[in-house]
Amino acid sequence: MKAITVKPGTSNSLRLEEYADPVADSTHLLVETIALGICGTDRDIIMGHYGWAPPGASRLVIGHESLGRVLAAPEGSGFTTGDLVVGIVRRPDPVPCPACGAGEWDMCRNGLYTERGIKAVDGYGAQRFLLEPAYAVKVAPSLGALGVLLEPASVLAKAWDHIDRIGRRTASWKPRTVLITGAGPVGLLAALMAHQRGLQTHVLDRADRPIKTELVRALGGIYHADKLPPDLQVDIVIECTASTPLILDALCRSGGNGIVCLTGVSTSGHTVPFDAGAFNRTVVLQNDVVFGSVNANRRHYEMGAEALAAADPVWLARLITRRVPLARWPEAFERHDGDIKVVLQFAPDPT
Ligand code: BGC
Repeated sequence: MKAITVKPGTSNSLRLEEYADPVADSTHLLVETIALGICGTDRDIIMGHYGWAPPGASRLVIGHESLGRVLAAPEGSGFTTGDLVVGIVRRPDPVPCPACGAGEWDMCRNGLYTERGIKAVDGYGAQRFLLEPAYAVKVAPSLGALGVLLEPASVLAKAWDHIDRIGRRTASWKPRTVLITGAGPVGLLAALMAHQRGLQTHVLDRADRPIKTELVRALGGIYHADKLPPDLQVDIVIECTASTPLILDALCRSGGNGIVCLTGVSTSGHTVPFDAGAFNRTVVLQNDVVFGSVNANRRHYEMGAEALAAADPVWLARLITRRVPLARWPEAFERHDGDIKVVLQFAPDPT
């Protein structure tokens, strides 16, 4: 079978390779890949900035945003042939730390977790893969091909879950406004969930992005092209760009009792002047919370699936701006104008 691999730490080492076909066994689902979503993390890995090969290997099968069809399932696993599934990305550390021991591998404390297609375990970018039933999430047939959005949706479901929990620190928490920086797939899914919570949603992205503007407006949100009104203050900020100047701006946009959630994994080395004293003073005097959020546990996949099921499927389908067939795989990793989510198509979509 074909698999897409990289040599982590080496730029532009991406290859389509012949790999041994996985063999069905009594502890795993054998899954045929239908589609693979490509995201910024994949691009970072391809550039050699991120990613780890499995122990003893030099190459890693890339891909963590999966959608597949079960070809074979062990008896009693709760899955049957033909089920649509998405694979959970992270696996708990082997120690395990208290968080991983409680099924909250997204909060791993010792950094020894692994991630399929990212950290020390092969990913889902192959024509077939094995998946532990405990790390498989069933996709409702009604969601069909849009199930490929479930992994990014799970990451935002976690961010929102934690925002909601932090908000409950005060009984008077009644957020009305949210600012989302970045209108890529992550930012737009964050905006969808903001809309589902009835919040007035501001989204900042670059100018000349008609489709993004339309998608934000379709949610009743306000699209800000390139800059924000200087006096805009909101209850919640979700930073989805990992761009250094935007992170700084995001930190200054929360009003009293504000919550700022950072979701982008940035590269280091981009320094900007930062007045730590003023930042500290504002955060303290306003009771603000700034926190980071990464990954998702099973509960968040379920929350993400609910959010996707409640969304307008036509709106969701517009997030997938290109579907690249496996025969033309290199194109899936190129950046094209107007791209939101690019999907590499391994097999025909479910009907
Ligand atoms: C993935 C997460 C992962 C994170 C850090 C993101 O792109 O969606 O599942 O935890 O990268 O590796």
